[in-house]
Amino acid sequence: MIRTMKNCCIRYFSKGLCLLLAAALLVGCGQSGQTETKTLRVGVAVYLQTDTFIDAIVQDLERLVQAREAADGIKINLNIVDGRGSQITQTEQIDRLIALDYDVLCVNIVDRTSAAQIIDKAKEAEIPLIFFNREPVAEDLSRWEQVYYVGAKAEESGVIQGQILLDRWLNANPSMDKNGDGILQYVMLEGEPGHQDAMLRTEYAVQTLTGAGVSVERLAGDTANWDRSQAAARMSDWVNTLGDSIEAVISNNDDMALGAIDAYQSLDIPPEDMPVIVGVDATDPALKAVEEGLLYGTVLNDAQGIAENMLELALLLESGQDPAQSDLTLADGKYIWLPYRRVTLRELQAEQSPAG
Ligand code: GAL
Ligand code: CA
Repeated sequence: MIRTMKNCCIRYFSKGLCLLLAAALLVGCGQSGQTETKTLRVGVAVYLQTDTFIDAIVQDLERLVQAREAADGIKINLNIVDGRGSQITQTEQIDRLIALDYDVLCVNIVDRTSAAQIIDKAKEAEIPLIFFNREPVAEDLSRWEQVYYVGAKAEESGVIQGQILLDRWLNANPSMDKNGDGILQYVMLEGEPGHQDAMLRTEYAVQTLTGAGVSVERLAGDTANWDRSQAAARMSDWVNTLGDSIEAVISNNDDMALGAIDAYQSLDIPPEDMPVIVGVDATDPALKAVEEGLLYGTVLNDAQGIAENMLELALLLESGQDPAQSDLTLADGKYIWLPYRRVTLRELQAEQSPAG
């Protein structure tokens, strides 16, 4: 206990604060010598819990909280609320978490343009606020110093996705260029309109190809709102109208890429006749599809890293510490960026046999 306290003191506190903390812990010791553990109450508002990637973050968070409680003898009460895609519902949920005086709020905001209103409420209640995955504009984040963002840089995922396609395009055996015209014909499955990841992934994936001198032609493109079945419906239409002329399916996330594969499978088109399909996220079902040779590649969106950093940040903020003075890497005093990583069969195999 002392050692934990000492380590924690060295890591996070100034000497004066350490003495205060020690005194507080002693006061917390009852006559039986038992320490009363304080409970950290974290409210987590997600935009839609059935979203595969968001659900992965939530599960990681729950697992990390349990591990942290067991390791450090602290209590963390995680209250997860699902906005079910409605900003009105989410705002009501946040109002309630504020009324219940939660210690820290983590918000995966439904509508990015509503951030200012939520920041102002948290500021008034003096409850630190961490946005994640759905990034408010910088101007909103600057409304209060106790507001943070944990996520990944959208353009980076687009660039990596473009590089995966570029490498595949340059590999002539077998050629991706089905009609041999030297132009990459593709369709684009886009995430929610207005989402930073949808806009920037679309832009940077294509720009990476054209920037490397590849001629491209967009045959079709539409939003499928990150959703597998919506993507399957779009893709069926495109396969019916465009047929074999589609050489690549560029999808803003894995669920939609899997929807595209569903469409080909339900039309009884065998894997060798499918175009090159790429996604983003590296969800479990997507990794399985990469192993099965159905999904050509994806880009790891670090759900666990987001959960870890959010939890550390919440713990720091609750105890009134300055995250800038901690082990966390903050950009502009507000942002924690998790890197994206390329995943194709090659990376998966290298992971399984690191020596080879
Ligand atoms: C993206 C992710 C999508 C979806 C979206 C929700 O980062 O790639 O699959 O989860 O966030 O905001
Ligand atoms: Ca072509």
